[in-house]
Amino acid sequence: MGINNLEHHQFDAVIVGGGGAGLRAALQLAESGVKVAVLSKVFPTRSHTVAAQGGIAAALGNVSEDNWLWHMYDTIKGSDYLGDQDAIEFMCRNAAKAIIELEHFGMPFDRLDNGRIFQRPFGGMTKNYGEQPISRTCAVADRTGHAMLHTLYQRNIRANTQFFIEWFALDLIRDGDGDVLGVIALEIETGEVHVIQAKTTLLATGGAGRIFQASTNAFINTGDGLGMAARAGLPLQDMEFWQFHPTGVLHAGVLITEGVRGEGGYLVNSEGERFMERYAPNAKDLASRDVISRATATEIKQGRGVGKNKDAVYLKLDHLGEALINKRLPGIREIAKTFANVDPIKDPIPVVPTAHYMMGGIPTNLDGQVVEPTAHGERAVKGLYAVGECACVSVHGANRLGSNSLLDLVVFGKAAGEKMVQEIAQSSAHKPLPAGVADSTLARLARLENTNNSETVAEVGAAMRKTMQTHCGVFRFPDLLETGVAAINEVASRIAKVRVNDTSQVFNTARIEALELDNLMEVAVATMHAAHHRTESRGAHAREDFSERDDANWLKHSLFYKQNNRLDYKDVRLKPLTVESFEPKKRVY
Ligand code: FUM
Repeated sequence: MGINNLEHHQFDAVIVGGGGAGLRAALQLAESGVKVAVLSKVFPTRSHTVAAQGGIAAALGNVSEDNWLWHMYDTIKGSDYLGDQDAIEFMCRNAAKAIIELEHFGMPFDRLDNGRIFQRPFGGMTKNYGEQPISRTCAVADRTGHAMLHTLYQRNIRANTQFFIEWFALDLIRDGDGDVLGVIALEIETGEVHVIQAKTTLLATGGAGRIFQASTNAFINTGDGLGMAARAGLPLQDMEFWQFHPTGVLHAGVLITEGVRGEGGYLVNSEGERFMERYAPNAKDLASRDVISRATATEIKQGRGVGKNKDAVYLKLDHLGEALINKRLPGIREIAKTFANVDPIKDPIPVVPTAHYMMGGIPTNLDGQVVEPTAHGERAVKGLYAVGECACVSVHGANRLGSNSLLDLVVFGKAAGEKMVQEIAQSSAHKPLPAGVADSTLARLARLENTNNSETVAEVGAAMRKTMQTHCGVFRFPDLLETGVAAINEVASRIAKVRVNDTSQVFNTARIEALELDNLMEVAVATMHAAHHRTESRGAHAREDFSERDDANWLKHSLFYKQNNRLDYKDVRLKPLTVESFEPKKRVY
């Protein structure tokens, strides 16, 4: 079908995703006078950034002396040395500026008695290169993401950003030169397909935690940008690295912020033992998340779990007192009552490690431009950007530190917005669209209505989640990875047979769920293959058969290509921008 049959729109910039990263970039563009559209499958303030609880890191030094270099060191160590040191320097150097900017936008940060922005301790954030925990995480009680998202949305309204709300981006438009010229999108309410042509396109679609059965992620976190990138022939980087947050509510998966431990809460096993003292004698409950999740999984495996099935540990915070809990952790009290049926001012909360964050994503440079390898190195894909959890710049490496993700969104959202403004200024007219621009997308939509197809979204989705949970969890075992690759390939092959029984349903929800499953499957397949191939343990990737980090062979990023499930590798950038490198060393907390 030609574009004449589809409604056609033109913008300077189109942003897919209305969370923190997309909105920060959109603001930069709109305030520069650029014609920018934000497509969001949900109302923007319902994007998953709203669920970020504990805070955003920056070495402001409001509670005690701090230094962005200490933050940089902690982030590199937290990443298990897989993070690119130039990107990490860029983020940590710009952190304080980003916070002040948010404050000036009107973000209602909590305050210390002296009026400065409140900061709390978070896992892996330390003073003087690991000496002791430091208060570096700026917070709005336990609803920091909520406050940030509303602030950025309101600023965008003021700047006249144009929102396409409840629109679902389907595919990138890529021409024969490999340039990206916009997206094909579906208006959810009507089911109509549109061509959105743009000089620059930014993917800011967030995470994909819904590939797992137990996840802190919202149902909307379906890896849409990654699916679009993979189908356009682009690689996905470091997909083997998934963070399991130590404190998801048992059975419900809902997040209980690390801020609880920052405020003095701690984990105990069935013997009442504060077990983190054994696993991380210095940092204890403020060690990095991969360390705490493995410790918890070990306690449960060795029979020291709590509850009817001994499949959780307790997070204890009653000793913090009702006043502090109500002031700093009101949302947590509400969540614990609703989802665990306990009031944490009296009783501990049963928690388990729960899939939380994708460290990998679409590879980018420091300007947010998507990059792909060439025979001689790497090139930026013209017109395409990615920021936030869907991107891999890479500041989080093999394990992200809590409160670095909100920071990543605003620092790189702004950088990408600035670069997009430059690129738009340099390009006079829109490039012509390729012939048959929406053909493959329309074929994908038609497949969902093929009456010869018999698979359901529910069954294939459940099979995918079970496979990922069983074969690719907190600890990874050689036999499970081996069989996991075969299992996920088999589940993925069923996608071609998925049919949506009732496409006439109100608001196309069944069709959207099927399209989301296409994207989740790209992420799940990439994850399993990359995990199987990495024969070492690093950060969140913990193999039973290769239990040590192997810098000689594996200090490198993986790149997974959809075509033939191919894996390639590229070096980690160990050289920062202006300071000395932090050489890899053994990681202890
Ligand atoms: O624990 C939390 O509040 C989560 C924060 C994060 O993932 O950065």
